[in-house]
Amino acid sequence: MEKTLVLIKPGGVQRNLIGEITARIERRGLKVVGLKLIHADRETVEAHYDEHRERPFFGGVVSYLTSGPIVALAIEGENAIKAIRAMMGATNPIDANPGTVRGDFALSIEDNLTHSSSDPEAAERELGLWFPTGTF
Ligand code: CMP
Repeated sequence: MEKTLVLIKPGGVQRNLIGEITARIERRGLKVVGLKLIHADRETVEAHYDEHRERPFFGGVVSYLTSGPIVALAIEGENAIKAIRAMMGATNPIDANPGTVRGDFALSIEDNLTHSSSDPEAAERELGLWFPTGTF
């Protein structure tokens, strides 16, 4: 069993896609073990994207993630990390296959609807950041 973090970004919340995205995760057989709707502070988002600190898009992505409410989901299941990444599709929605969340609902790389942990180390770090009290 693996755990992973999914963030539904401000655009996904604004476009009423919380249910659609969460339903796809649940239908796949993965379990929601933590869930919260929050307006994230800059400090948490900067820590979340720490690996991208030197990239040119860092400021933009941090501003975007703090621009409105987001949903943080802790997901558990067999091979959850890879399964979720495949379901979300390529980071740039233009490269995402139809049938994936981004391939079905997104067009822009900044507003690519979700973030999901890339590997087990990232998942542990990110879950600790967004669910510090370990609600699952
Ligand atoms: P995410 O998986 O949340 O991780 C970093 C985010 O930065 C990424 O999704 C995109 O939404 C955003 N981003 C903006 N520009 C780029 C870029 N050129 N390359 C990668 N990610 C980018």
